[in-house]
Amino acid sequence: MKILITGGAGFIGSNLAKKLMDRGDKVVMIDNFNDYYDVQLKKDRIKKYLKGYNFKLYKGDIRDIKLLDKIFKAEKLDKVMHLAALAGVRNSLLDPIEYEDVNVRGTMNLLEMAKKYKIKNFVYASSSSVYGNNKKQPFSETDSVDTPISPYAATKKATELLAHVYSHIYGLNTTGLRFFTVYGPWGRPDMALFLFADGITKGNPINVFNRGKMSRNFTYVDDIVSGTMAVIDANLKCEVMNIGGDKEETLMRYIEVLEDNLGKKAKKKMLPMQPGDVPATVADIRKLKKLGWKPTTRIEEGIKNFVTWYREYYKIK
Ligand SMILES: NC(=O)c1ccc[n+]([C@@H]2O[C@H](COP(=O)([O-])OP(=O)(O)OC[C@H]3O[C@@H](n4cnc5c(N)ncnc54)[C@H](O)[C@@H]3O)[C@@H](O)[C@H]2O)c1
Repeated sequence: MKILITGGAGFIGSNLAKKLMDRGDKVVMIDNFNDYYDVQLKKDRIKKYLKGYNFKLYKGDIRDIKLLDKIFKAEKLDKVMHLAALAGVRNSLLDPIEYEDVNVRGTMNLLEMAKKYKIKNFVYASSSSVYGNNKKQPFSETDSVDTPISPYAATKKATELLAHVYSHIYGLNTTGLRFFTVYGPWGRPDMALFLFADGITKGNPINVFNRGKMSRNFTYVDDIVSGTMAVIDANLKCEVMNIGGDKEETLMRYIEVLEDNLGKKAKKKMLPMQPGDVPATVADIRKLKKLGWKPTTRIEEGIKNFVTWYREYYKIK
């Protein structure tokens, strides 16, 4: 199979690309290497992490429909895994118009191309944030997601609506994956684990929101990749699925495991809840499990792997 990964230099994209190529798929990527976080890390995912792999990378923007048309025409793609997006929840409150432009229009462009070039399966990244402040836990795909509480979440819900239209009218196979807090090696510097690791190693205070009263189904990146591959292979007609770890963990436990692995205590700055954030995201993952997938990595193992990578990459003893 020849698969286009949008956002291929990103955290999830680069990890997915590696596993797809390991099993013999051909990979084409597009990424604009935006500077939302350290661009060098994105370059290194391509240069160092994917060193020795054979893939085609287009440096460009998913909002450039002419470029997309060129890529789809030239590459004769079978499937699309659409991950490119502006991904930070909190940052979306600062720049909502840019979020709408990249996440909604960019997705629309890709759906148009998928329709035009008769793509066999279009899988795209949604997010657990679409559940907003829903009280019922765990979050299930059948729950209402009509009340997002950040511009980011609203753009992700919008992509699900657009994908539904293309499946319904044009028969395009689409599956949206609602990712639940992904972590692991080559992770994102704007996310909690990375910020905590940085603070603890430098001896700086770390911000603990909602005074630590938070919980998540933290999901190790390898589990995300295996679940995503199951969905890429399944060619489902029109679905939305949760993809998350199967154990609810508190934020305080997450920090404790990190402290153990770094061998250093955190200076915790207890703060109130941030606007746009939610206290708990717990996933009902029964739907995706029906495809034969299940998450296998506990935070004790996942955080250990993260710290090993973090120390090596940043040359920290
Ligand atoms: N990591 C998580 O916990 C998480 C949770 C929920 C949803 N998601 C979603 O999963 C996807 C991947 O997330 P990630 O954590 O790998 O983020 P990431 O920021 O590391 O990767 C996204 C990549 O897309 C690229 N990109 C952004 N705008 C682009 C544009 N206009 N044109 C081309 N490329 C562009 C970026 O340069 C980046 O390399 C995103 O859609 C995100 O919203 C992630």
